[in-house]
Amino acid sequence: MTTTEHHVEPSVEELFDDTIAADQRIEPRDWMPDAYRATLIRQIAQHAHSEIIGMQPEGNWILRAPSLRRKAILLAKVQDEAGHGLYLYAAAETLGVDRAELTEKLINGKQKYSSIFNYPALSYADIGVIGWLVDGAAICNQVPLCRCSYGPYARAMIRVCKEESFHQRQGYELLMTMMRGTEAQREMVQESTNRWWWPSLMMFGPPDGDSPNTQQSMAWGIKRHTNDELRQRFVDMTVPQAAALGVALPDPDLRWNPERGKHDYGEPDWTEFKAVITGGGPCNAQRIAHRRAAHDNGGWVREAASVYAEKQAARASGGGRATA
Ligand code: 3HC
Repeated sequence: MTTTEHHVEPSVEELFDDTIAADQRIEPRDWMPDAYRATLIRQIAQHAHSEIIGMQPEGNWILRAPSLRRKAILLAKVQDEAGHGLYLYAAAETLGVDRAELTEKLINGKQKYSSIFNYPALSYADIGVIGWLVDGAAICNQVPLCRCSYGPYARAMIRVCKEESFHQRQGYELLMTMMRGTEAQREMVQESTNRWWWPSLMMFGPPDGDSPNTQQSMAWGIKRHTNDELRQRFVDMTVPQAAALGVALPDPDLRWNPERGKHDYGEPDWTEFKAVITGGGPCNAQRIAHRRAAHDNGGWVREAASVYAEKQAARASGGGRATA
């Protein structure tokens, strides 16, 4: 703190702490602790990578959708995920990183993407269950991020969450249609639910006691709730939805606890989770190889765009007329 003519100027650290304490937003131009910046880059990059990698399991079913309507809905959803990735890479770039650098780190295994996208989409019912459970979990996890202390991230989340609601609704409606169909369709929905339930619970991260980042992220207002709090919120939201669908959730320990006013549920397999997030997921090699190939195949577009931008800049500085 410096004193000028008896007026005490707050230090940048005090300004940062006061902004967080007042539940205000930190903006790109504001001073921020290096660790705050690093945590945001880590989380926002992982979030962006997840959106882009998450296009793969659903994208595999676009050509096999059973009707034009289902194909159009799935196309719209997958395109939304690409847009979410772009928003989030743009938010990360306000912190001084470059999306090309982040993509390289993803491809080289130096940055993560969400565990959930390590699992294969094996049947068409998975398209409904991914919308219902995975996007449902994403909504639980992302709505609080609309109040994140970092302005660009919080603002990116507002539109993402609106679109996630469509994603969850379309998945649930697809499943409701299948549950009114044949016995084979009902069995397909139940089999898919059995495969996706536990990985959806793992999306919220390790138990609070094993989460090295939660306490600090909560203190900085990046996280508004702990991993277990959001997991519990998702379980309590999903149980009645499963009942309305007529599917059983594959957890023998799942039951309403009147004392807690919440559902008790079993423990996800944290050994599996740890293996998945350290590169041992069932589809990790395939997901990364696909991402690397897409990045390489798109090299000519990036090169053409940068040459065009250089030409435009040269014309603008030389006074020449920029072409349309
Ligand atoms: N998948 C992969 N890694 C995970 C993970 C998951 N589900 N959960 C935790 N981890 C990693 C963390 O990244 C951290 O590793 P790191 O320090 O090397 O980065 C480690 O496990 C410890 O976990 P923490 O709980 O301490 O880490 P965080 O405080 O970062 O919490 C998080 C993890 C809850 C996932 C948090 O990062 C978060 O909320 N991220 C933003 C939201 C997000 O990424 N959502 C999921 C994917 S997007 C999506 O669902 C798309 C939708 O359209 C379907």
